[in-house]
Amino acid sequence: MNLSDLNKIAQAMVTPSKGILAADESSGTIKKRFDAIGVDSNPDISGVILYDETIWQEAKDGTPLVKLIEQAGAIPGIKVDEGTQALPNCPGELITVGLDKLAERLKKYYERGARFAKWRAVIDIGPRIPSYTAIRTNAHALARYAALCQVAQIVPIVEPEVLMDGDHDIDRCYEVTEFALKETFQELYYQKVALEGMILKPNMAVSGKKSAKQAGIDEVAEKTVRLLRNCVPSAGPGIAFLSGGQSDEEATAHLDAMNRIGGLPWKLTFSYGRALQSAPQKAWSGRSENVAAGQQAFTHRARMNSLASQGKWKSDLETKKAA
Ligand code: 13P
Repeated sequence: MNLSDLNKIAQAMVTPSKGILAADESSGTIKKRFDAIGVDSNPDISGVILYDETIWQEAKDGTPLVKLIEQAGAIPGIKVDEGTQALPNCPGELITVGLDKLAERLKKYYERGARFAKWRAVIDIGPRIPSYTAIRTNAHALARYAALCQVAQIVPIVEPEVLMDGDHDIDRCYEVTEFALKETFQELYYQKVALEGMILKPNMAVSGKKSAKQAGIDEVAEKTVRLLRNCVPSAGPGIAFLSGGQSDEEATAHLDAMNRIGGLPWKLTFSYGRALQSAPQKAWSGRSENVAAGQQAFTHRARMNSLASQGKWKSDLETKKAA
């Protein structure tokens, strides 16, 4: 492992004003969707997370998609987990799978041009869950994945996602996320993962979607920053949040409010899927005459989140169209 090179990639992924596009859905239409959002020429995007199908795709002239991403100044990444399965003896809980043969797959992805990877663990909140078994087993898998990535000279994005689908309040989300992050960093230590060569992708501390008590922007920002300060060592170059089902504007406003708090030991940026893709997808709707509208919607969301990653976003910018 060359940690200095891994650190350079990790730093580049969280370059000030830039963030990561999570485009790793399993979908045959993803190439068309890429064209519709113009992802290969966006100055606010530092990296793009691809899916196994997409990483092997080529443009009409035979140029690999990964090359187009590189030419645009972004880093190609790859989702390497193979989804979730029921966790034995833990009703309603899931374990992320895909460690078998991962070392061989990482070699191929590296040769193809991937320089970072993603693995998502899913922790649900409900009556009597999550169990310690689910938190610990998922943290262990995340750490095993991260160690394999670093040996393959690929920067791991470590994503322990605590879902926001329940009726719990923000403090319950805080408590469960704290448990998941503490356990994840403990397992990363046991697997000898170098924090300088990885990126954490956490959820924010937010109220469950069905909660009657919805925390406001400042409360989310203050509690998330407090949570991260308590759980995430400062050796890591950055934290890139998932959006997790927040509205586009909420995801932007929360990131902005956190960066306005300032004085943080790591960069805070975005690695959004839905909060970057839903507006352009709606504008495009799969129709060729809407491609320009789709691209404009993507440019706008990427720009808003770029400003938020610098604490420079304002809600009235939402109404102005991106240039
Ligand atoms: P969302 O921003 O839609 O949560 O997606 C991010 C991601 O990569 C989930 O694994």
